[in-house]
Amino acid sequence: MSKLIKADGYTFEVMLTEDQIHGAVSRLGAELTRDYRDRRPVFLGVLNGSFLFIADLVREFDADCQIDFLKIGSYGQGMQSSGAVRLDKDLSMSIEGRHVIVVEDIIDSGISVTFIRQHIQKSKPASIRFATLLLKKEKARVDFPIDYVGFEIGNEFVIGYGLDYAQQFRHLKDIYVTKDA
Ligand code: IMP
Ligand code: MG
Repeated sequence: MSKLIKADGYTFEVMLTEDQIHGAVSRLGAELTRDYRDRRPVFLGVLNGSFLFIADLVREFDADCQIDFLKIGSYGQGMQSSGAVRLDKDLSMSIEGRHVIVVEDIIDSGISVTFIRQHIQKSKPASIRFATLLLKKEKARVDFPIDYVGFEIGNEFVIGYGLDYAQQFRHLKDIYVTKDA
């Protein structure tokens, strides 16, 4: 049975099921456990979009860790970002000398992760790596590695599992794509 979501004349269909997502999250959790077992890393979730991904990812991390969040906003609505990023909420803890894993829902242009990296480097962490559930490989422009990737996707707009369209649809268990955008 195909589930379709309709919003503003766009039709979204399932691209990644809950099971596929959980398979990728378990794999990433195992990789992170292997790489960070004795480092007590700080998982740094980027709000709002990563709230479900980080919640599932840290439960697949089988060692000590700490968790904090920052929130960024981009000026722009709907499916297009303006390219300008602002910091809406900073970290709550010191990350000086710590191993930080930034947890993102999706990397699109790469502007947000580039901004975050510059911002947290000022706090002098021991290391910074990036984990993202989704990577728009052809579109993303970053001049540093993205170490942990759930799925590479095309240049298409997706919703669900934390990802929104105008703050809607974040609660969906599957990830949906529109061919109309
Ligand atoms: P970037 O700065 O262009 O890499 O975009 C990153 C942010 O834009 C993500 O954290 C999302 O909040 C949002 N975004 C980018 N692509 C999508 C998408 O396909 N669906 C929903 N949100 C998206
Ligand atoms: Mg968003």
